[in-house]
Amino acid sequence: MKAIRLHHPQSIDALRAAELPDPGEPGPGEVRVRLHATSLNYHDYVVVTGGIPTLDGRIPMSDGAGVVEAVGAGVSAFNVGDSVISVFFPDWRDGRPGEMVQGHVPGDHADGFARQLVVAPAHHFTRAPKGWSHVEVATLPCAALTAWRAVVVEGQVKPGDIVLVQGSGGVSIFALQFAKAMGATVIATSSSGEKLERLKALGADHLINYRDTPNWGMAAMAASGGGVDLVVEVGGAGTMGQSIAAARFGGHIALIGVLAGHVAPLPTTILMMKQLRVTGITVGTHRQQREMIRALEATGIRPVIDATRFTLETLPDAFRHQASGAHFGKIAVEIG
Ligand SMILES: NC(=O)c1ccc[n+]([C@@H]2O[C@H](COP(=O)([O-])OP(=O)(O)OC[C@H]3O[C@@H](n4cnc5c(N)ncnc54)[C@H](OP(=O)(O)O)[C@@H]3O)[C@@H](O)[C@H]2O)c1
Repeated sequence: MKAIRLHHPQSIDALRAAELPDPGEPGPGEVRVRLHATSLNYHDYVVVTGGIPTLDGRIPMSDGAGVVEAVGAGVSAFNVGDSVISVFFPDWRDGRPGEMVQGHVPGDHADGFARQLVVAPAHHFTRAPKGWSHVEVATLPCAALTAWRAVVVEGQVKPGDIVLVQGSGGVSIFALQFAKAMGATVIATSSSGEKLERLKALGADHLINYRDTPNWGMAAMAASGGGVDLVVEVGGAGTMGQSIAAARFGGHIALIGVLAGHVAPLPTTILMMKQLRVTGITVGTHRQQREMIRALEATGIRPVIDATRFTLETLPDAFRHQASGAHFGKIAVEIG
């Protein structure tokens, strides 16, 4: 089978095509899946560019979508021909997070989905939304589930709430879509006026260019008439101060990303005085993925995928496209 492997020293140029042996038939409890698509997450970019050290020869990509080709003894969750989707934390089935859930992340601690075939335990997958293309399905395991957890599970957004989303990447656009589906008003930020117009077309109610308006927290406070209920925070250290300014008293900041840095001084007095809640979030559980898929089918939400498409062979170009920041929404890769 064809695959892409990441070699040392880790870099986009160290992604190389490989011919690997067929993984064979599934054992008890396993499924054999023919993969048709994957998608890029910032996490994959950090792995590929060396921010997360991994083994020499690791197969990258945390997200995979495909079709079950064979099922091993004792597998009742899937049948041959089912369209399936990978799970970011295969061992986190349900319940509260614990240290063990962080292990076995595909493309990071274990081989990922930049390949044509995989044999893995059945619980490493869930069913895919009915009627979706493989490319659409492959956008879900990391970005969509993280946004779902931030907005619905931890954020508990309800009609009338005001939600702020940052930028136009994969997580933020799913967060916008989920927040609108829950009946919220959405304030969207972006570095680009053109992207802001596209966010408006997706339902964003208020738009702020964070390059032109460095104190966008106060602008969001003004637009919301007293502060936002939930900030979906993907910038981290470099944006947290503005997020604290944007939040209403008793508001919530769902801390997901660190695009704008890891460490910064924080206005802790304001954090305390406003009685804000900050929740660190890393993706979600097998159960939450199943619940999100049911919600996607019920609401009709479909992923927003960047117009420039890639294949396994052009995966390095997909990462260069991501690094350019030109993308809008998810970057998809077809696996032939
Ligand atoms: N904790 C988790 O489980 C989890 C899961 C998924 C992702 N993440 C993290 O969430 C972040 C976003 O991931 P992603 O996959 O959605 O990335 P992505 O698709 O590559 O999105 C990047 C976008 O973020 C926006 N951005 C960059 N710097 C910004 C800033 N200073 N302020 C506001 N927006 C900014 C830009 O949008 P514009 O071009 O519109 O400005 C950029 O296009 C990353 O840090 C990633 O590691 C964490």
